[in-house]
Amino acid sequence: MSDKAIWHDLECGAYSADLGLWRELAAHAHPAPVLEIGAGTGRVALDLAGHGHRVIALERDGDLAAELRRRARGLAVEVLEADACAFELSEAVALCVVPMQTVQLLDDRAAFFRSARRALRPGGVLALAILPGELGTFEVELEPDVLERAGVRYLSSPTALRKTPTAVVLERARRITGTREVPPTLDVIELALLTPASLADEAASAGFTELGTRTIAPTDAHVGSDVVVLCAATR
Ligand SMILES: C[S@@+](CC[C@H](N)C(=O)[O-])C[C@H]1O[C@@H](n2cnc3c(N)ncnc32)[C@H](O)[C@@H]1O
Repeated sequence: MSDKAIWHDLECGAYSADLGLWRELAAHAHPAPVLEIGAGTGRVALDLAGHGHRVIALERDGDLAAELRRRARGLAVEVLEADACAFELSEAVALCVVPMQTVQLLDDRAAFFRSARRALRPGGVLALAILPGELGTFEVELEPDVLERAGVRYLSSPTALRKTPTAVVLERARRITGTREVPPTLDVIELALLTPASLADEAASAGFTELGTRTIAPTDAHVGSDVVVLCAATR
């Protein structure tokens, strides 16, 4: 498995607080399949497939897409290596989910909304998880998250969460120790500042109307989310 997939598992893989909501939305989405944007190594896509849903898992990163393809063998998951801001599907979907603040990573949200609108059936649902407006106090964890594989230890510690005028910046220190020693690196993620209202406004230009916002409560290890639920207008 690539280091990229291991870091992804370590930093995202254990999160499960949102899975109930994606399952609930998928249960109401007919016909199949469900489209997931930014599927990573498959935390959500594999869970939905395990609950009987056919999934198209779109992921831009080749290493993560390859790992997801390996994990999805035998399941109803089609892995599509593509950019969320410029993709086409060969069949229309009734539900598109965008978990874990992935929409806040995209560099061209207008292009993403246009692609998503093309991919969705009229009346289809687009659900996007974003950081809540009030992040509350962020406890910088003292103990790193650790994953060990074949004598190699991967350690990831969130070291800072700061707001700039346009983004929330999350910094994590990553270290590899054990039978393979790699000097520490700093991983920096910038999440564009969005609110449910600003996101719904952007989506309106591509033909989406707002159905409402759901809330996912924070956990000990993860911030909560607002999930903005939109409907693709009938043409
Ligand atoms: C926070 S992770 C979420 C992974 C997975 N959806 C989950 O909830 O566990 C964000 C994912 O989006 C992918 N991503 C970021 N920008 C993308 C883009 N423009 N197109 C497709 N995928 C993208 C990243 O490679 C990463 O796998």
